[in-house]
Amino acid sequence: DRMPKRQIAADTKVHGIIGKPIGHSKSPHLYISAFRAPGFNGIYLPLLVDSVADFINTYSSPDFVGYSYTIPHKEDGLRCCDEIDPIAKEIGAISCMIRRPTDGKLMGYNVDCLGAIAAIEEALRASNGAPASGSPLAGKLFVVMGAGGAGKALAYGGYEKGARVVVANRTYAKAKELAGKVGGQSITLDELKDFHPEEGMILANTTSVGMKPRIEDSPLPKEALKHYSLVFDAIYTPKWTRLLQEAKECGAIVVFGTEMFINQAFVQVERFTGLPAPKQLMRDVLARNMD
Ligand code: ATR
Repeated sequence: DRMPKRQIAADTKVHGIIGKPIGHSKSPHLYISAFRAPGFNGIYLPLLVDSVADFINTYSSPDFVGYSYTIPHKEDGLRCCDEIDPIAKEIGAISCMIRRPTDGKLMGYNVDCLGAIAAIEEALRASNGAPASGSPLAGKLFVVMGAGGAGKALAYGGYEKGARVVVANRTYAKAKELAGKVGGQSITLDELKDFHPEEGMILANTTSVGMKPRIEDSPLPKEALKHYSLVFDAIYTPKWTRLLQEAKECGAIVVFGTEMFINQAFVQVERFTGLPAPKQLMRDVLARNMD
């Protein structure tokens, strides 16, 4: 391709995505392309990690500067930071860690909700036609399935936009705890099947149900989906989860996990490189790598 190639050198800045498993991740390809475009001297690796603390202690050189965090290490990652941004602290999970060049301190951030909430708002605005002032999520009943790291991010993001949040989780205790923090309601995933206090609700899935390879699964049966005007799925492998296919058949607006993923990737690339993200290039790279 036409990108200038750069050799890895002694001063190359090392980045990566920390998770387990990590083989399915599209991040290395995406971030390497984004780094290469402006000639940024950095690499980005898939890092299969058992213990975040061991990894961080082992690779403590100043050139190991930035990490993205994915399942199941977002909570462990937070515990390894020297400083944590307020939203990550609230959520109890990080999605991104950066070694501050001035003093080597590890800074933790959570940019999960920035990507997902922006994508949902954009889709709602496009469907309403009217770019009214304020968030189109304000006042809406916003149901978040799942109460892990991504569930927390979505619940806090919705709460900040003035939505009435409902947390639905397989394990009720976790739903209750999260809902309590965002002034919302809590129910089990099972109860959600018969939950429809009103029509036109917004639904966000943050559970792993429907992720490759178990693509026949869905966190909510089709009959329940007719009460929602918009359905977002944080899963991006596959792009069309069963949940999104059935939501579409029920007439809902669908928002793909790729939108959350790409929006938070823009934010992370900008923080890693200090340069504007090459957004169109990143969208193209991701599109070429989807199923
Ligand atoms: P993430 O950081 O992506 O949110 P996580 O913290 O591991 O990942 O959270 C996984 C979420 O998916 C949890 O809400 C989990 O429900 P439990 O709290 O009951 O464990 C949910 N989840 C995973 N597998 C599930 C399944 N088979 N059915 C229903 N929910 C499931």
